[in-house]
Amino acid sequence: MNLTLKVWRQKNADAKGEMVTYKVSDITPDMSFLEMIDVLNEGILNGNIEDKQNYGPVAFDHDCREGICGMCSMYINGEPHGPGRAVTTCQLHMREFNDGETIHIEPWRAKAFPIIKDLVTDRSSFDRIIQAGGYVSVNTSGNTQDANALPIPKESADSAFDAATCIGCGACVAACKNSSAMLFTSAKVSQLSLLPQGEPEREKRVLDMVNQMDEEGFGNCTNTGACAVECPKEISLENIARMNREFLRANLTSSK
Ligand code: SF4
Ligand code: FES
Repeated sequence: MNLTLKVWRQKNADAKGEMVTYKVSDITPDMSFLEMIDVLNEGILNGNIEDKQNYGPVAFDHDCREGICGMCSMYINGEPHGPGRAVTTCQLHMREFNDGETIHIEPWRAKAFPIIKDLVTDRSSFDRIIQAGGYVSVNTSGNTQDANALPIPKESADSAFDAATCIGCGACVAACKNSSAMLFTSAKVSQLSLLPQGEPEREKRVLDMVNQMDEEGFGNCTNTGACAVECPKEISLENIARMNREFLRANLTSSK
């Protein structure tokens, strides 16, 4: 396949960015989207692909390349993680595109995810939301109870597991017209509030995580649902409803 790529290039956080056009050839349908960018970068490095403005290889985030780390965040043709549902960029294959196609590649656009370089954004705001309350305090004195000793209804265990599949990629924020982080935060609140282990810190957790989410500059939820449509892990909007209930309950009952 031969493709025309229009890629967002930005030398650093303060530099002005622009879309730059590249031509790539010999792309096979079985390559992943990231492997296609590897081919582009190899071409830029060995001089086979013209790099008039001297940007060098395209900077992009990736780690696992198997859909579990959430690093490979980018817009492809205006959609977070590109075409197809429930798929990360690293699991997207070039067979989804046509020979001769022009593909637009851009970084996430959200105030709380500032651009570091090219397609790489700083998503440490998500880390700070987790640090605010996405944990359970465990007694490590040697008397820790065996996990299986705590009976958990299957329905709760299943819902907690579904929420825990969130990989923190940020596609929900990128898809949202308000840059809201409600789907991400609600998944992280839900996975703990549904389990007995999460009960002791239940109120403090939701208040602190929502407070941190607001401080980071994410917008609010207006129930559009674009987040759930673009989420590669199909995190349900039910989690947002659950977090709203948890938040209301905490405000009514917490002494904090
Ligand atoms: S909720 Fe979905 S889209 Fe948002 S960070 Fe988690 S996995 Fe990514
Ligand atoms: S590189 Fe890890 S999810 Fe894509």
